[in-house]
Amino acid sequence: MSQARRVAVIVGSLRKESFNRKMAMALPALAPPGLNFEIAEIRDLPLYNQDDDANPPAPSAAFKQKIQEADAVLFVTAEYNRSVPGVLKNAIDIASRPYGKSAWDGKPGAVISVSPGAIGGFGANHHLRQSLTFLNIPVLQQPEAYIGGAGDLFDDKGGIKKEDTKAFITKFLAAFGQWVEKNAKAK
Ligand SMILES: Cc1cc2nc3c(=O)[nH]c(=O)nc-3n(C[C@H](O)[C@H](O)[C@H](O)COP(=O)(O)O)c2cc1C
Repeated sequence: MSQARRVAVIVGSLRKESFNRKMAMALPALAPPGLNFEIAEIRDLPLYNQDDDANPPAPSAAFKQKIQEADAVLFVTAEYNRSVPGVLKNAIDIASRPYGKSAWDGKPGAVISVSPGAIGGFGANHHLRQSLTFLNIPVLQQPEAYIGGAGDLFDDKGGIKKEDTKAFITKFLAAFGQWVEKNAKAK
């Protein structure tokens, strides 16, 4: 990459032992140089309320600021009932408002879904893409990252145990690095 890029990672699960959080934590070791990841935490966000647009609660303003400061965004999400967890949708809504002042606009992005199930959160991954399209986030198309069998994927320290998954995520992040390079706004 010609210059270092800040990537805000948004984890779509609040669970302490979340597989998605483990995946998010495993990314830096597998990424090309120049992609710097930071988790933009969504745990303390209140529920979005349009009445607060002019004066948002401090945690909402701070989250939106983090997204604004990032060069790119990477969603690592669980699937709930074939869609994204409400906590993730809430975070997306918060940083999207007021209308016309979205923090997401034009930032290159990508999606990884992780599930113990066999189809790797496909439903969440694609439901999420519907919102990202509206938010004008150019989303990496290939490779797609549906990571199934998560119950058996991580070791005691949270590292990825399976070599083929590690190789796939490495390939995915290399493509994402190129995508960010191509689509990030000039600094
Ligand atoms: C409310 C709820 C709905 C769920 N729905 C799905 C689903 O549609 N598809 C799926 O693969 N897993 C589903 N699961 C199981 C999650 O994939 C599993 O709890 C997973 O560990 C969540 O991700 P995390 O480990 O990052 O928290 C659901 C879990 C919950 C709590």
